[in-house]
Amino acid sequence: MTTTSGDTSLAPGHVTVDPAILYFGTPVALLSTVDAAGRPNLAPMSSVFWLGHTAVLGLGARSQTARNLRETGECVINLPSAGQVAAVDRIARTTARDPVPARKAAAGYTHEPDKFGRAGLTPVPAEVVAPPRAAECPVHLEARLVHTHPLGRDDPAAAGGTLAFEVRVLRVHVHESVRLPGTAHRIDPDRWRPLIMSFQQFYGLGPRVHASRLGEIDEEWYRPGPGTSPAR
Ligand SMILES: Cc1cc2nc3c(=O)[nH]c(=O)nc-3n(C[C@H](O)[C@H](O)[C@H](O)COP(=O)(O)O)c2cc1C
Repeated sequence: MTTTSGDTSLAPGHVTVDPAILYFGTPVALLSTVDAAGRPNLAPMSSVFWLGHTAVLGLGARSQTARNLRETGECVINLPSAGQVAAVDRIARTTARDPVPARKAAAGYTHEPDKFGRAGLTPVPAEVVAPPRAAECPVHLEARLVHTHPLGRDDPAAAGGTLAFEVRVLRVHVHESVRLPGTAHRIDPDRWRPLIMSFQQFYGLGPRVHASRLGEIDEEWYRPGPGTSPAR
């Protein structure tokens, strides 16, 4: 639906629209979890953000991944680079749920109990949580569930359908290729090439577009510790 309602003279060129989704672009993560029997699962997701060492993960409540997180409380947030898009796409429209929920079946989702195998990614043990890491992803964030926040409680039609999982990142592994040369703990944003999902399509990042005043702050200023807030 496209309308030209409202006073367009206030913001020239703008129209009022009603998009079905508001996915304006976020990094893709491959979330690994285990169920109560220890069976691993891997799911692409992109509703993720970080504040300090807290990550917030937005997930459909009916996914196997959400069930696993509620049951076992641990995950690894594997971050694929743009070069691994084919592996991510191979497990798009799959679920470990059996039977496949009707709404997903209607959209062409199929049951896949071995997401690692289907993606062509290698499960390797994590150090402090039970779910495995995806060896080929340049970044692995081992994390533990802190709190589960139901979303959309103001909307009876949506209530209970989506959850925000607040997790604490306990351990970070990065491939040498994305580490800032000459540093022990820093990621080089010129080398780290995340895979971005925007309105259901895959993108990479372009080069830097501007000098950054924020980037003049020493990264260590953000390190969580006594007397610091985890906020940016
Ligand atoms: C690139 C990509 C991003 C996705 N982002 C999300 C997301 O942020 N949240 C979500 O619930 N599902 C997301 N999905 C859909 C899930 O992968 C899908 O629900 C899947 O069936 C979950 O698998 P599971 O049931 O085995 O956990 C995304 C899918 C793809 C391919």
